[in-house]
Amino acid sequence: MNATLERWSTRRAFILAVTGAAVGLGNIWRFPYITGENGGAAFLVLYIAFVLLLGLPVMMAEILIGRAGRRAPMQALGYLAGQAGASRHWRLLGLFGAFTVFCILSFYSVVSGWSIEFFVTAVNGGFVGLSAAEVGAGFEAFLADPLRMTFNHTLFLFMTMTVVAAGVAKGLERLNNLLMPLLYLLLVMLALYAATTDGFGPALAWLFMPDFSAITPLVVLHAMGHAFFTLAVGACALMAYGAYMPEHQSLPRAAAAVAVLDVSVALLAGIAIFSVVFSQGMDPGEGPGLMFVTLPIAFAELPWGALWLSVFFLLLLLATWTSSINLAEPMVATLQGLGFGRGKATAVVGIAVWLVGLLSVLSFSALAEWRPLFGMNAFDLVTTIPTEIFLPVGGLLIAIFAAWVMPKAEAQAALGVAEPGFVLWRTVLRWVSIPLTVVVLAAGLL
Ligand code: PHE
Ligand code: NA
Repeated sequence: MNATLERWSTRRAFILAVTGAAVGLGNIWRFPYITGENGGAAFLVLYIAFVLLLGLPVMMAEILIGRAGRRAPMQALGYLAGQAGASRHWRLLGLFGAFTVFCILSFYSVVSGWSIEFFVTAVNGGFVGLSAAEVGAGFEAFLADPLRMTFNHTLFLFMTMTVVAAGVAKGLERLNNLLMPLLYLLLVMLALYAATTDGFGPALAWLFMPDFSAITPLVVLHAMGHAFFTLAVGACALMAYGAYMPEHQSLPRAAAAVAVLDVSVALLAGIAIFSVVFSQGMDPGEGPGLMFVTLPIAFAELPWGALWLSVFFLLLLLATWTSSINLAEPMVATLQGLGFGRGKATAVVGIAVWLVGLLSVLSFSALAEWRPLFGMNAFDLVTTIPTEIFLPVGGLLIAIFAAWVMPKAEAQAALGVAEPGFVLWRTVLRWVSIPLTVVVLAAGLL
């Protein structure tokens, strides 16, 4: 065997796996609407700053822990803590991560179900000739129909858990990453089309000319949460991948590649979507429906629009499928660690997520006005709290563990870089990432 070739292929496999976890609803659905709700360019500046100062160094910390521990997250944390002479309670961080992904998957599955609905409608030519208002009205009618929404949520979760139970996630990962370039290409095409519309100028201004007066502590908190969410950092989900990472691969380079890809997918989606928003005179702060009411209109303008729209939703579904498999995996692994068989663990997780997901489904009809906390309904809560509080808190603990608890030699070996690079990374983590997370959490919450 050619050793160089072998190393190349594993290096590539690792980056593809992490990209599969990262690219999903966070880029194409969440990024545009959250940016729209938080003032546009100023939010984008904050989000990119958080990706660089927090997302990237903490992503490296998370993967590094998995790589050094060579075990499932809970076990890796317990083992490394024991070796460092620290409390074994660090393993609870793995449990906290599993709880975080549980909450996230409950709405992720519901929103991916919306993509199923739109895919089917697009395939049947259901968007042909519709005005912006008609697309919006159709989406509202769909949201108000809990049975249709439950059907799609069930179907998506079933697709996810079937793959998880069979343990064929790796194969699907590869399929997804063959299709990822196609998704990217479609987004480039859409952005190019957007450049020909009169919404393009206002969209660029909205995205890239910051009005810093729009920034409040809460906007900063939203930006930080989104940076963690979109990179899939803070829930110990990437820690699991680290365990399989080859010895001689530069972790920082792999993490940087994923971040660049993830941010650029989000930017392309943002350009396409906001061009439609401004050329149609829509509200950028429209909320979670933003992507769903803009894309059918954008594609309708293109030749073969109905076909491209179907392809787009299919690719989006594949991207969210691999993300949701990655969301489910840590929970199943945790239950397995507690003695469950794989099939049983998958069933328990699937049923629990399905039930909690019904709260998100009903938040658009029967439970719309049920606001148990902070004046938010169940969907608002589950799309906000886990992302904006649990992920940063998890990321903070991961950073503390890697930068302060793990012995230097061990951390450096797992990071796989020379001394100056290691010192830079650990200095950023210790004196920028950790204090920044604490300050933003405190300012946003107090
Ligand atoms: N990063 C994924 C997305 O952008 C969501 C995700 C969050 C996946 C946390 C895994 C863990 O859609
Ligand atoms: Na993402």
